Parts: sequence; structure tokens; C-alpha cells
Amino acid sequence: MTALVIGGSGTLGWYLKESLTKAGIAYLAPSSSELDIASDSSVSNFFLANKSFDTIYLLAAETNVDLCETNPESGYQINVLGTERIAKQAVQSGSYLVYISTSGVFGGGSQNKWRYCELDAPSPANLYGTSKLFGEQSIIRICKNYFIVRSSWMIGGGPSRDKKFLSKIIPMLRENKDLTVVHDKIGSLTYAKDLADFLVEAYYKKYTNITHFASENYASRYDIVKYVGALLKSTSKIKGIDSTQFPLPAPRPMSEALYSITNLTKNKKWEEIIEDYMQEWR
Ligand SMILES: NC(=O)c1ccc[n+]([C@@H]2O[C@H](COP(=O)([O-])OP(=O)(O)OC[C@H]3O[C@@H](n4cnc5c(N)ncnc54)[C@H](OP(=O)(O)O)[C@@H]3O)[C@@H](O)[C@H]2O)c1
Repeated sequence: MTALVIGGSGTLGWYLKESLTKAGIAYLAPSSSELDIASDSSVSNFFLANKSFDTIYLLAAETNVDLCETNPESGYQINVLGTERIAKQAVQSGSYLVYISTSGVFGGGSQNKWRYCELDAPSPANLYGTSKLFGEQSIIRICKNYFIVRSSWMIGGGPSRDKKFLSKIIPMLRENKDLTVVHDKIGSLTYAKDLADFLVEAYYKKYTNITHFASENYASRYDIVKYVGALLKSTSKIKGIDSTQFPLPAPRPMSEALYSITNLTKNKKWEEIIEDYMQEWR
């Protein structure tokens, strides 16, 4: 039997491939041109040619939050219809489906808690969060054998593959450049490497339903930059600003912090996650 990794070229996908290899689990990780979840024919042709997966990891998504807002069709085609297509294939092939979702399903409308657990009712603040929530709902509606893992502010990739927040900040801190960073929005952190190991655990234990996987505490981007700056012994001056001074196409919730009440995960503090991740930047 083989696992299928959809989205294996992404931040989380690289670590998942490493963790599966380390665990001795055989897997297939097609590129998005070999298996394009936004295309009916690509999905049906792929599953006609490749049948027996015991576990399908659906990591693939349109993850650009602002693009989902300015071009809603991209999020809809990939995160909603793409997820639905894979859910149907998982049922047909009798596979266990593991879907990665996001803290972005919370914090919209009048919802303004500091952090969210699995029992909080979703209420997305933007179209990315809405599209991922529709993805979750498709899976729950279509599949019996599924596991949804929500994570938040994922970091990973190291100097060669990281294209997110920290990859822009670390070089500036190393050059002791001054920085202005948003301090009025919070989130919990997920090190993609830790999540990948948890996804391998799920392969064996066949966890079901929904769990949250993120740091046990939360921080603002400002807190994170200060902490990384101290680790790098940077002399950069770091100034906190309100998010209103840094407008983005997609509204962000006040909090993207998660906690878990499922007892499936033993999560670290965000400071420890940063320290672990910074080992990749040595
Ligand atoms: N990043 C975060 O902070 C965060 C937080 C919470 C949850 N998540 C969720 O975690 C999962 C993994 O995130 P990530 O940061 O690793 O993503 P990522 O680095 O942006 O990678 C996205 C992956 O999806 C693939 N993909 C995109 N469109 C596709 C399509 N039409 N068909 C097949 N594959 C397609 C990409 O393939 P190519 O680029 O090779 O085409 C890539 O492998 C996502 O589901 C995301 O929603 C992310």
C-alpha cells in the first residue's frame, strides 16, 4: 500500500515527504501538473491510472490569502471544488483522507476570541478562510474516514525554500536594518516539520474528526521579530505598528491563534518552535 501526497512541493509537503521516507512509508507525490485538483479530467485520469492508496494527504491549496480575495475563483476552483474532487476519489478508493485546514476559518464577523478550539463554530474573516471551510465541509459531507488538521502561521522551508514572513525578516535582522512590524494581530505558530511528523503518526493511528495543531501560546508578528532579532543578536530597531497602517486586500482577523482540546497533540511554545526552526538558518 502507498500513501498519496497532494501538494508535496509546498512548505509542508517537503517535510511530509521527508517524514514518510524516514518512517519507511511508500508514497507517491505527483506534481500539480501530473495531478491538478482544479481539473476534473486531471483528477479522474490520475486515479484511473493509480488506484491503491491507503492514505491520501491533501495539502494542496491556493494559499495566497490576498489572491483568494482579489480573484475568488482561484480559491473556489482549488480549495472548494478541488477538495471535493479528492474527497470523492478517497471514498471510491476506500482511502483514509487527511486534510490540512487553517485557523483562518475563525475570527470573522463579530467573533473576536483570543484563541479558538475545535468546538468553536467557524466564522471566516476572508475568502481564503471561507474556501478552506467549504473544503472541510465537503470532506465531512462526502467521506466517513477522514481527519482534518487545522494549523496556523506555518513556518518552514529554511533558506532555500522559505518564501514567507521569516525569510524576508531574517536577512534584514542579519544586516541590522530597522524594521516596522504589525503588533495588533496575533496567531499561534506551527513548524511544518513538527506537523509532518504528526501526520505520519496519524497514518498509523488513523485519527478521525478534527484537531488543531499549533503552538500552545500565541504571539504577534512584532513579538516574533523581536525574538528572532534577539536570537540573531541583531541591533535592528524594531517598531510596532497597527495593522491599519499596513492595509492588505484580504481582511485579517484579530486572532489566528488555535488551541486543542483533543489531547492528540503535545504542542510546543512558539518560542521553542522559533528556536527549532532557526537551526535551519545556521
Ligand atoms: N502556510 C500557512 O501559514 C498555513 C497555515 C494553516 C494552514 N495551511 C494549509 O496547509 C496546507 C499546506 O500549506 P503550505 O504552506 O505547505 O502550502 P504552499 O507552500 O503554498 O504549497 C501549496 C501546494 O499546493 C499545490 N497546489 C496548488 N494548486 C494546486 C492544484 N490546482 N493542484 C494540485 N496541487 C496544487 C502547490 O503545487 P505547485 O506550487 O508545485 O504547483 C504546492 O505544492 C494548505 O492546505 C494550507 O491551506 C497553511
